[in-house]
Amino acid sequence: MQKLGTATELEYAFLFTLRKVNSINLEDFKQFFSNMPIDPYIKGKYRSRRLSRFTASGNELVKLPHGYFFQSKEHNPLVGDIKREFAELDDALIELDTFKNIVLAFSDSCKLHPEAEIGVHQIRISCSPDNFSNPAPEGIHQDGTDFIGIFSVHRDNIQGGETHLYTAKRQKPVFSKVLNPGELLLVNDHEFFHFANPIKPQTEAQGSWDVFVLTSPSLLSE
Ligand SMILES: [Fe+2]
Repeated sequence: MQKLGTATELEYAFLFTLRKVNSINLEDFKQFFSNMPIDPYIKGKYRSRRLSRFTASGNELVKLPHGYFFQSKEHNPLVGDIKREFAELDDALIELDTFKNIVLAFSDSCKLHPEAEIGVHQIRISCSPDNFSNPAPEGIHQDGTDFIGIFSVHRDNIQGGETHLYTAKRQKPVFSKVLNPGELLLVNDHEFFHFANPIKPQTEAQGSWDVFVLTSPSLLSE
């Protein structure tokens, strides 16, 4: 866990940390990232997305009812202040122990209350030689939640996509890294802004980056 500046013990409750989620077979996830619905709320058809919400109590995930995703314009100038709706994650994905382990790792690391809602965004960013893709078209931003987890699932034929954290929008990043498959970056959203660089293919072919982005609270409502 990182400690910045002169933060006191209290302030230091949680800033950001990078961990590897062990005993995860990432191959289990592959089939669930193909043929996902396109995110219709941004320009271009390069981002596909599903979204579900859960609580994690003890060793179990409880799936919560379908809801609408809402961020304020302040947090998301591109698509803030509108209700967004995405298809739920596939039931067969949710049933995988490997999936459960990621959500529990997030919940444990952030010491979430058992009733805290966790939103899980399943996202694929695709790129081609003519079309480099921007995972965060809203720019350097905060999500408007408490905790964020970014779990990198798979990088297929891509370069770029470094994830950055900043203490303020116009500062240099305090963290910059390509998140390798299996790595989970945990971020206190109150303390940091985040961004990911555009991705482009390594060869003259399609490329893609698959991630789960977890947030608590979920920012979903009925
Ligand atoms: Fe974000």
